[in-house]
Amino acid sequence: MSETYLNKIINEDALKALPTLAENSIDLVLTDPPYFLDKMDNRWDEKKVASTKYHHVIKSLPAGMRFDREQGKNFYDWYYKISKEILRVLKPGGFFFSFSSPRLYHRMVSAMDDAGFLIRDGFIWLYTQNQPKAMSLNHFIDRLNENEKSRDNLKKQLHGWKTPQIKSCFEPIVMAQKEAEGTFLENFRKYNVGLLNTHVKIGKEMYPSNVISTDSINEVVDKCFLISKPDKKEKGDFNFHRTVKPLSLCEYIIRLTTYSNEAIVLDPFAGSGTTLVAAKNLGRKFVGIDINKEYIEIGRRRIKSFEADYSINNGVPEKKQLKFLLS
Ligand SMILES: C[S@@+](CC[C@H](N)C(=O)[O-])C[C@H]1O[C@@H](n2cnc3c(N)ncnc32)[C@H](O)[C@@H]1O
Repeated sequence: MSETYLNKIINEDALKALPTLAENSIDLVLTDPPYFLDKMDNRWDEKKVASTKYHHVIKSLPAGMRFDREQGKNFYDWYYKISKEILRVLKPGGFFFSFSSPRLYHRMVSAMDDAGFLIRDGFIWLYTQNQPKAMSLNHFIDRLNENEKSRDNLKKQLHGWKTPQIKSCFEPIVMAQKEAEGTFLENFRKYNVGLLNTHVKIGKEMYPSNVISTDSINEVVDKCFLISKPDKKEKGDFNFHRTVKPLSLCEYIIRLTTYSNEAIVLDPFAGSGTTLVAAKNLGRKFVGIDINKEYIEIGRRRIKSFEADYSINNGVPEKKQLKFLLS
C-alpha cells in the first residue's frame, strides 16, 4: 500500500479511487454504502435530500415511500463494479463486511457473490428504536370522488391499516471473503487474514456471534449479544451526517477479523469516518474514501479527536482508557 493513502481519507468517487489502490494490500473492508433509496443515487447530496424542491421530485410522498423497481437493479450493477475492485485490493482470505438495508440485501449479496466473493455469513444489528414509516390511507381516501359518508365508512373500515412498511428494527450486514490461497492455515501464515479472533467477546463474555445489539433489550439478549452502547460524545457535536454507525459495532468487526496493528482497514464510503476512527482506536491502519468533501472534514475531525484505545498483543487487543481530545 502506497504510504500516500495510509491513514487518510481520499475525496473521490469510490469507482475512481479504488483502481488506484494496490492489489492484495487491504486486510479488511468494512463499509456502509449508499442504497439508491428515495431517489438518492450513488452521489447523494445532503442538501439535495433535505430540500423542499427535492421532496417535490418524489411526488409528495414522504421519503422511503416510493417503490422503484429500478433501484435494486441499479444498485446491483453499481455494487458489482465496486465489489470487483474490492476483490482486487483485498488480500487473499480478506473479509468484506457491508451494511445493507433489509429491502436491498438480496441485490447487495448477489452483486458481491457474482463479483467473486465467498458469502460466508449474514450479521444482524438488532435495535429497538426506529421511526415507523407506514402511512394511514386517510389522505388518499379524502381525495376519492365519493360522498362524505362513503369516505367516512372507508376510513372506519381501514382504521389502523397502513401502507406496507413494517417498523424496521435490524440492519443486515453481509460477511464475505476473498478466496484464500491454499488452506486457511497457509493463507494466514502468508497474509495474516482469513481467520476469526474468538478472544473477542460479546455480551457477558460470550463467544462472538453474528447477532449484535447496541441497545439494552432484556437480560437474555443483553447477555448474548450486547456490545458497548454508543457514547453520546462519540459522534462529535459537529457531526451532521445522517447515518453514523456505532463505533463499538465497527470495533467488534475489526477486532474479530484483523490480526495485528499492521492491518489496513478500508472504508470506500467513509461518511463521517466511523470505521476509520474504530480502526485508529484499535491501533490499526486505515484508508477512507468519500465523494463528499463536507463529510470528509467531519471524518478528519473525528479521527483527530480520538487517541488509540487498545494496544495489540499477539492479535489480542487489550483495552486502554478511551481518551477524547475534544470535548
Ligand atoms: C451511509 S453513508 C456512510 C456513513 C458512515 N458509515 C458513518 O458512520 O458516518 C454513505 C457515504 O457514501 C458516500 N458516497 C456516496 N456515493 C459515493 C461514491 N460514488 N463514492 C464514494 N463515496 C460515496 C456518501 O457521501 C456517504 O457519506
